[in-house]
Amino acid sequence: MIHQEFMALSQFSQEHLNFPPFMSAFEEVERALQLYRSGAMIQNLLITGESGTGKTTLCQLICQKYPRVVLPERDVQPVLYVSIPPAATIGGVAEVMLTRLGDPQPGQGTGSAKTARVARLAKGVGVELLLIDEANHIQDRGQSPTQYLVGDWIKSLLDNLQVPTVLLGLPRVENLLRVNEQLRRRFSRQMRMELGQNPDKSVEQECLDLFYTLASCMPIPFSIGSESWESLACRVYFATDGRVAYLKKLLISAIRLAFEQSLNEIRRQELAQAFEAEIWPQGTGALNPFSRDFVFRRLDRQGEPFEQGALRAQTRGRPAHV
Ligand SMILES: Nc1ncnc2c1ncn2[C@@H]1O[C@H](COP(=O)(O)OP(=O)(O)O)[C@@H](O)[C@H]1O
Ligand SMILES: [Mg+2]
Repeated sequence: MIHQEFMALSQFSQEHLNFPPFMSAFEEVERALQLYRSGAMIQNLLITGESGTGKTTLCQLICQKYPRVVLPERDVQPVLYVSIPPAATIGGVAEVMLTRLGDPQPGQGTGSAKTARVARLAKGVGVELLLIDEANHIQDRGQSPTQYLVGDWIKSLLDNLQVPTVLLGLPRVENLLRVNEQLRRRFSRQMRMELGQNPDKSVEQECLDLFYTLASCMPIPFSIGSESWESLACRVYFATDGRVAYLKKLLISAIRLAFEQSLNEIRRQELAQAFEAEIWPQGTGALNPFSRDFVFRRLDRQGEPFEQGALRAQTRGRPAHV
């Protein structure tokens, strides 16, 4: 691939879009921060979404917008972001937080010593917003006691810090709140990152809007050919489940194919090839959303890329799709 093509692909993959559920979630997080700053209230928030809907990206953008600043008298860090590791322990989570807070020796001390340091450092640098990603890794009471303890620990940390907190995770994080009444009370405000929440538009239409917003940033134009908009909307939705991560993978792969073949536009056949290469190798013929023979249905049955059980199994250890 020549240098210019490489640069164009790299620029496309870094593109950030303000699609409706992403934008609403972003605005709501900022609103929680503003409410806190105005002294009005502490508003916590739960944001759920399947993998690849943009939750971690949202956190990254918030951190970028409110970065740590080094001032002559002290460092100021408005946002503390932490991603809960799988099989989390209190010490492990505290250590991640200490690293983020710039502690020179995050691994040092017992669990409770680390916790005390987290609270002290967070107050010292003026943390005003806590973002807890992958909250689904905190399991409910039925699971291992360590993870149950992490849930309780987070609860007491919130009480100690007294800043707005956003929990982000897979939809099953709602189970955690269902069984943990105290956390539920603190996170009564909830949002979903998925498409399909606009009463005036079908989910397929929303997905097509997202496709075109992304396509407008592509270095090579997309050509719809003789296809109808409605049919393309369904194909795109079934191919990506309406998730921005899959849409992006699909388009990046199609752009690469177009560069390789020196095409001056991307057609449905490139998307079909990209779907097979990036999303589902078994997705051929009737099971490829961009093929002429496609069955026009969601690909969520057993063994298919958007099977619910499969996604749950992946989060227990197998690598995720995205
Ligand atoms: N707002 C966005 N605009 C463009 N691409 C995005 C956006 N949000 C997510 N992505 C893409 O999707 C990929 C997965 O997003 P991520 O935030 O990791 O999802 P999640 O945390 O929900 O699993 C990212 O690497 C990025 O390429
Ligand atoms: Mg994530």
